[in-house]
Amino acid sequence: MTLSCLFLFIFNFQDVIAFATTARYLCRPEQRNVLLEFRKEFKIRRSSSKLCNINGRIVGSYPKTESWENNSDCCYWDGVTCDAKSKDVIKLDLSCSCLHGRFHSNTSLVRLQNLKTLDLSNNYLYGQIPFPVGELSRLTSLSLSNNRFSGQILPFIVNISHLTFLHLSNNLFWGHIPFSIGNFSHLTFLDLSSNHFAGHIPYSIGILSQLKSLRLSDNQFSGQIPSSLGNLSDLTSLDLSGNQFSGQIPSSLGKVSHLTSLQLFDNQFSNQIPSSLGNLSHLTSLDFSHNQLSDQIPSSLGKLSHLTSLDCYDNSLAGQIPSSFSRLNQLSNLVVNSNKLTGKFPIALLNLTKLSYLSLSNNRFTGTLPPNITSLSNLEFFFFFETQLILMPWKELAYDNAFVGALPSSLFNLPSLTSIYLTNNQLGGSLKFGNISSPSKLRVLSLGSNQFKGPIPSSISKLVNLEVLDISHWNSNVDFGIFSLLRSLQRLYLSHLRATPTIDLNTVLSCFKSLDLLDLSGNHVLATNKTTVSDVISNLNLSGCGITEFPELLRTQTLLQTLDISNNKIKGHVPGWLWMLPNLGYLDLSNNTFIGFETSTRHKLSSVLGHLFGSNNNFSGEVPSLICELHSLRTLDLSNNNFSGSIPLCIGNLNSTLSVLNVRQNRLSGCLPRNAFESLRSLDVGHNQLVGKLPRSLVHFSALEVLNVESNMINDTFPFWLNSLQELRVLVLRSNAFHGPVHQASFPNLQIIDISHNHFSGILPSDYFVNLRKMSSLEVNKDRSNLKYTGEAAIGFVPGIVFGLAIGYILVCYKTEWFSGRNKHRSRSTPTR
Ligand SMILES: *[C@@H]1O[C@H](CO)[C@@H](O)[C@H](O)[C@H]1NC(C)=O
Ligand SMILES: *[C@@H]1O[C@H](CO)[C@@H](O)[C@H](O)[C@H]1NC(C)=O
Ligand SMILES: *[C@@H]1O[C@H](CO)[C@@H](O)[C@H](O)[C@H]1NC(C)=O
Ligand SMILES: *[C@@H]1O[C@H](CO)[C@@H](O)[C@H](O)[C@H]1NC(C)=O
Ligand SMILES: *[C@@H]1O[C@H](CO)[C@@H](O)[C@H](O)[C@H]1NC(C)=O
Ligand SMILES: *[C@@H]1O[C@H](CO)[C@@H](O)[C@H](O)[C@H]1NC(C)=O
Ligand SMILES: *[C@@H]1O[C@H](CO)[C@@H](O)[C@H](O)[C@H]1NC(C)=O
Ligand SMILES: *[C@@H]1O[C@H](CO)[C@@H](O)[C@H](O)[C@H]1NC(C)=O
Ligand SMILES: *[C@@H]1O[C@H](CO)[C@@H](O)[C@H](O)[C@H]1NC(C)=O
Ligand SMILES: *[C@@H]1O[C@H](CO)[C@@H](O)[C@H](O)[C@H]1NC(C)=O
Ligand SMILES: *[C@@H]1O[C@H](CO)[C@@H](O)[C@H](O)[C@H]1NC(C)=O
Ligand SMILES: *[C@@H]1O[C@H](CO)[C@@H](O)[C@H](O)[C@H]1NC(C)=O
Repeated sequence: MTLSCLFLFIFNFQDVIAFATTARYLCRPEQRNVLLEFRKEFKIRRSSSKLCNINGRIVGSYPKTESWENNSDCCYWDGVTCDAKSKDVIKLDLSCSCLHGRFHSNTSLVRLQNLKTLDLSNNYLYGQIPFPVGELSRLTSLSLSNNRFSGQILPFIVNISHLTFLHLSNNLFWGHIPFSIGNFSHLTFLDLSSNHFAGHIPYSIGILSQLKSLRLSDNQFSGQIPSSLGNLSDLTSLDLSGNQFSGQIPSSLGKVSHLTSLQLFDNQFSNQIPSSLGNLSHLTSLDFSHNQLSDQIPSSLGKLSHLTSLDCYDNSLAGQIPSSFSRLNQLSNLVVNSNKLTGKFPIALLNLTKLSYLSLSNNRFTGTLPPNITSLSNLEFFFFFETQLILMPWKELAYDNAFVGALPSSLFNLPSLTSIYLTNNQLGGSLKFGNISSPSKLRVLSLGSNQFKGPIPSSISKLVNLEVLDISHWNSNVDFGIFSLLRSLQRLYLSHLRATPTIDLNTVLSCFKSLDLLDLSGNHVLATNKTTVSDVISNLNLSGCGITEFPELLRTQTLLQTLDISNNKIKGHVPGWLWMLPNLGYLDLSNNTFIGFETSTRHKLSSVLGHLFGSNNNFSGEVPSLICELHSLRTLDLSNNNFSGSIPLCIGNLNSTLSVLNVRQNRLSGCLPRNAFESLRSLDVGHNQLVGKLPRSLVHFSALEVLNVESNMINDTFPFWLNSLQELRVLVLRSNAFHGPVHQASFPNLQIIDISHNHFSGILPSDYFVNLRKMSSLEVNKDRSNLKYTGEAAIGFVPGIVFGLAIGYILVCYKTEWFSGRNKHRSRSTPTR
């Protein structure tokens, strides 16, 4: 009896534990363990930079997994959802959870076989194929967007045939869309945007009849769009922008009758815009910009009665704007700049009472501006030229159109008008403001580079809200007194006032209590008057003003954030007080005749200087250590000087901030610094006398895109180990003492490599570049005319890649997009051109 009791007790005890676990907790213990294991596969990296949109609310990331406790019910853990009946974990939402690390193919996640929804978006995850999520065959929703996943995912998830939602945007995935995409017949949402996908869209896409949203933007897709897209009758949003699609836009798109948004910009579409698009009666947003479309704009587009935004910027569209446009009565944005449109001002537009943004610039419009332009009562922005968004505020440059005649003074009566951009036309006559509606809402008046005659009328003072005034290249003498009437003025563009004699900087600054921006470039500026004018200016352009000594009066401009004093003839030392200006973030000293930096221990250095350009001067001696004390420095350009000695060790102080370092064309000696510059994107030390090896610390430069060490005396073997740098695009080793064999290495994003004029030896296998996916997969097969062959003894050959072997060198040049196209906004910080 006793014995059997004891036995029973033991038996029951185990049973009770099992029972208790399942009764108190919904969670299945083995699934809880999987989750805990999964958590351990990653580190937590807290960062404010990943913001997430949760149900329309923008929230910061936080580590959801940190609240997970082994002894609590995993079905209630943050991000975990269980099925009420089966108790299986069916949904895992770890978006925005600060997860960091490699996603291994042996991840424990594959054991959550009942998972239906997996969201790992907005983390710092990376990892390559083979991709294990393909084993989660019950998944219906998969989101991996905004990570650094790579590899070829599509063939591996083909078996997850129940997928309805697939969001892979903003990763490094590559490969083609397989024909078998047609098997995802339940798919309603497909977003592959911002990856490295290439190839054609397969015809089978037309089978995905449930698809509501298709986004393929910012990839390298090419070829024609298949006409089968016309079958996707439920589609409401189609985004193919930022690819290399070509050929005609298929007229079958006119059958996608529920479409509300159609984005085709940044491609190579040619020929006519199909008139069938006029059938897309629900369309609200249509963007064709930056293609090669020609012929006339079809008048059927006038049927798009819900259209609020139409953008045809940068094509070869000709003819006139169709008169049917007068029926687009919901249109608020119309952008047709940079085409070949002709005719007079399109009066059909005068019926569009909701129009608030009109850009007609850079076309072949002629004639005068109609006085009844005032019927555009909601017009806010009126452009007749092209703006370029460049880093520096004074480079909002203007380009031409050919409007002539006087500026209708009625324009100034438009009650809503806030901005008039008419720079670079041939408007003439004298400027008149007429009956300025009071109070005028006009905030921007941009009239530079026209042929106006005579003075600027003093009635300009009625533009009480004017913040931006551009009268650059004004042909008559400008009376600076008018500026003191404009109380709201913040930005004043006065470059190249040919008819105005020497401008006294002190006098101009005295007109203002405070001014955000003053552009005096290209004038003859006198800056010797030392009378104090304190705290007026924030951004000052004095480039090319014939200045010979550093303007002492800037010493009291404590608001100064940006100073461009390049292209002058300033001699001597850069004054020490500059580093004390507490807000100075951008300083361009290039192309002067400075010989050194004044150093003085008295000075407390400015802590905010982010960009320092000092190229093309006569600086000599060692690179001053005061540079190392500029703790916010991101760009340092000291190229084309006579600096000697070694790169100062203390530059390591800038290891977390420095993004661009250019010391090209000096006489620097010694070795490259051994610090780990984790933010450095571009390092150019070319044309110096550096020796030693490439420091192995380079592998920690995880942001590095450009490395140029050309024309030094670096003596090392081929740095195949740089292949761990995910962002490296340009590697220039030419003219050094590199030697030994060129190892096989797969640089993930390399576009340009130059290893010529070294002492490399041995054989280069003919498939050497096969793994340089970025280079060989680019337009190689598309444009064979780029095939070139240099050198004397070829030992291998890959289409589109140029190399030869004379003294053992390869020169590969491919894909210049990185320097021009998409990254044009960065132009200032990519010194290697
Ligand atoms: C969780 O706790 C259970 C028992 O309490 C244990 O068996 C299991 O190994 C733990 N899991 C992890 C991942 O720590
Ligand atoms: C998965 O594989 C990686 C290396 O491939 C290894 O470091 C890790 O320990 C493995 N994890 C598990 C859970 O087996
Ligand atoms: C997909 O399923 C087929 C048939 O079940 C199988 O042969 C194939 O290996 C699977 N593919 C992947 C990538 O899992
Ligand atoms: C769907 O998948 C099956 C089996 O993997 C394959 O034979 C078929 O060709 C696929 N269908 C399409 C349209 O890709
Ligand atoms: C598109 O629909 C037509 C019928 O409208 C059909 O014949 C064709 O096969 C479909 N194409 C695809 C790719 O589904
Ligand atoms: C679509 O547009 C074309 C050309 O504009 C026209 O011929 C056709 O009849 C339209 N189809 C429908 C269904 O409206
Ligand atoms: C504007 O004036 C032109 C003539 O200059 C006239 O043809 C057009 O009908 C007018 N439009 C409106 C909306 O008043
Ligand atoms: C456009 O405006 C003019 C002048 O007000 C008017 O005669 C014409 O009927 C309007 N057109 C449309 C389509 O509303
Ligand atoms: C210097 O500027 C002040 C105005 O700030 C002016 O009154 C004075 O006359 C100027 N001095 C010279 C020498 O131009
Ligand atoms: C340097 O500045 C001078 C004016 O001082 C100018 O003529 C020259 O073009 C500038 N050089 C460069 C390279 O910008
Ligand atoms: C940057 O330099 C500081 C001080 O020299 C050092 O503590 C830190 O570890 C360095 N960071 C990196 C990423 O090397
Ligand atoms: C490179 O360094 C090796 C020793 O590591 C030396 O033998 C060789 O001469 C050097 N080459 C040059 C060109 O300096």
